[in-house]
Amino acid sequence: RQQGVTILGIFVVDLAFRAGRLPVMGETILGDGFKMGPGGKGSNQAVAAARAGAGVTFLTRVGADEFGSLGRRTWEAEGIDTSRLITSEREPTGAAFIFVSSESGDNAIIVEPGAAAELSAADVEAAADAIRHAAVFVTQLEQPVATASRALGIARAAGVVTVLNPAPAAHLPDAIFALCDYVTPNETEAAALTGITVASVDDARRAADVLLAKGAGATVLTLGERGALFHDRERSVLVPAFAAGPVVETTGAGDAFNGAFAAALAEGMDPVSAVRFGCAAAGISVTRPGTAPSMPTRAEIEALLERGPGR
Ligand code: RIB
Ligand code: NA
Repeated sequence: RQQGVTILGIFVVDLAFRAGRLPVMGETILGDGFKMGPGGKGSNQAVAAARAGAGVTFLTRVGADEFGSLGRRTWEAEGIDTSRLITSEREPTGAAFIFVSSESGDNAIIVEPGAAAELSAADVEAAADAIRHAAVFVTQLEQPVATASRALGIARAAGVVTVLNPAPAAHLPDAIFALCDYVTPNETEAAALTGITVASVDDARRAADVLLAKGAGATVLTLGERGALFHDRERSVLVPAFAAGPVVETTGAGDAFNGAFAAALAEGMDPVSAVRFGCAAAGISVTRPGTAPSMPTRAEIEALLERGPGR
């Protein structure tokens, strides 16, 4: 077994618009900023894991177009293995409309997976060895759930550590949780999966328990500026967030966390330390614009861990 992280997920081009507010239907307003860059949760997590020091294999589908080329250039620059990349002949590479409020920094996103919506169980089976040879396997929910399930099943059968980042929020069949060593929702996703509104750390613990009861090995619930809760059958540890500087854009912070967390697990780090490593990565990513481009290097993560969570 090689010491690496294999990630199944989507790549899209993020088109991020800043404006004071969203237009209402039928209205046109002037924006005050625009940026285009690599995005998609799976690809963002692959970049985060690679910069955190892991050998990464990324499984996805893109179109035969300019956006697909941006993906290839991104992965090549990060040293990510894309030997299993599938190019769809007909479907285009997807895109995300990201609205960032210039007043509050909050965001709203429409993501269209494009070619990656066709990622199938057969695609995953064709790349089964890349899953079996990993130390850690990670996926999310931007490609079909059945595809994610099949990949988690292959990983689990081979004894690979499995991480499901259940994003964006969706309702899932209970059977999927038994395939997961770690389930990593944020507050919204945890609420969608459990029916429990997560407003406090106590709520987070109750929601985490529901996911354990469904069969997850451990729940890691990300709580924004409160940090992340590691919760399994033995312990429940709240790991504080790291304040690395003024917050510029929080889009992609969950991806920074998941990618760095997986990289740390792949090295054999204990899970609570891996959560701390992931929180440090997320803390840096929010101080920079963009998603994949804002992922920190291992040296930056280690320097922040050294300094500690406070400002
Ligand atoms: O998690 C952030 C990502 O979600 C963005 O890059 C956007 O592409 C959406 O998929
Ligand atoms: Na960012």
